[in-house]
Amino acid sequence: MPKKSVMDIDVKDKRVLVRVDFNVPLDQEGGVADDTRIRAALPTIKYLMEQGARVILASHLGRPKGKVDDRYRLNPVAGRLQDLLGREVTKVDDCVGDEPARAIEKMRPGDVLLLENVRFYPEEEKNDPAFASRLAKLADVYVNDAFGTAHRAHASTEGVARVIPGVAGFLMERELEMLGRAVYNPERPFVAILGGAKVSDKIGVIGNLLEKVDTLIIGGGMANTFLRARGYETGKSLLEPDKVELAGELMNKAREKGIEMLLPVDLVVALAVDPDSEQKVMPADQIPPDWMALDIGPESTNIFGKAIRKAGTVLWNGPMGVFEMAPFARGTFEMARALAESGAVTVVGGGDSVAAVKKAGLADKISHISTGGGASLEFLEGKVLPGVAALQDK
Ligand code: 3PG
Repeated sequence: MPKKSVMDIDVKDKRVLVRVDFNVPLDQEGGVADDTRIRAALPTIKYLMEQGARVILASHLGRPKGKVDDRYRLNPVAGRLQDLLGREVTKVDDCVGDEPARAIEKMRPGDVLLLENVRFYPEEEKNDPAFASRLAKLADVYVNDAFGTAHRAHASTEGVARVIPGVAGFLMERELEMLGRAVYNPERPFVAILGGAKVSDKIGVIGNLLEKVDTLIIGGGMANTFLRARGYETGKSLLEPDKVELAGELMNKAREKGIEMLLPVDLVVALAVDPDSEQKVMPADQIPPDWMALDIGPESTNIFGKAIRKAGTVLWNGPMGVFEMAPFARGTFEMARALAESGAVTVVGGGDSVAAVKKAGLADKISHISTGGGASLEFLEGKVLPGVAALQDK
């Protein structure tokens, strides 16, 4: 059931509490290292300002464990938001209580205020109803634009929508539409590429996607466990021995369903996870005992690329190798290029694959880059996200 959005409600002169996901990476000096998530929330913030709402923003930053921790104050975020909006953003040092209440009383239509990190209170992550009510009291309506935190049932993402009416912001809407279209109504053939270190992180996603895709491509460290299930020796490569049986079952399931499952046929192997280590390309079934796979090889890139070129929809989550090190980054960057060059609807989620697309300068050639890490994975697993479920139906 689609959810109501900011467009469906009257916000003029209203106090609007907007949950955003400003959980951004910080640099060594405590400044904002990547403002993608702040930029992604701008359309909703600007729309509300233009409509004459009093815009009250709430977010978490990091994991301060329910205590005030100066390293996780939202001041640097307020500064960056102010620069991006080109107008004043008032920042208060608490998210409930007298200080925010007084500042909100002074707000005029179109003003923007940023509350302090909601995770300075242990009640936030406990989804404490009294704390949710205190947050709700600050506003007349609630807008959830924090897709990246929608998998958490916390007071500011779920509890508050039980107290005052909650609708989706534009970012939330777009994430749900693009990820939803890819998974539930894809242009076919539908190709999913999964990578990253561990099978155990992606079991739920593989299980759900095996019900939907035409082709499933597996790369990255997790491919080793599948290769082992095929009976190949994997040398010193990262392996999850307790998941080999499961990998075999997933391959059988794919076969039964007529789904094409592509694993690497060749690999870049090295003697250590070290860019200066000796390295070579080997067929996937001939990894020597002391060597480890750190990237997919050129033949695998070709085969995966062909599947991507024929696709109507491509979903990508997880790198193909240790892409932080230049000698093992080729496979991941080639995947980014293949997506950018394909005419398919392309959706990329997960911090590492998103970082690779950006580093390759190809972000504007991808149909949708998700701002959600854990949230996009849970969505791909087919789970209901509590932050979404709590919003009003259309
Ligand atoms: C994220 O970065 O994935 C979200 O902001 C959620 O953060 P969390 O994993 O600390 O809940």
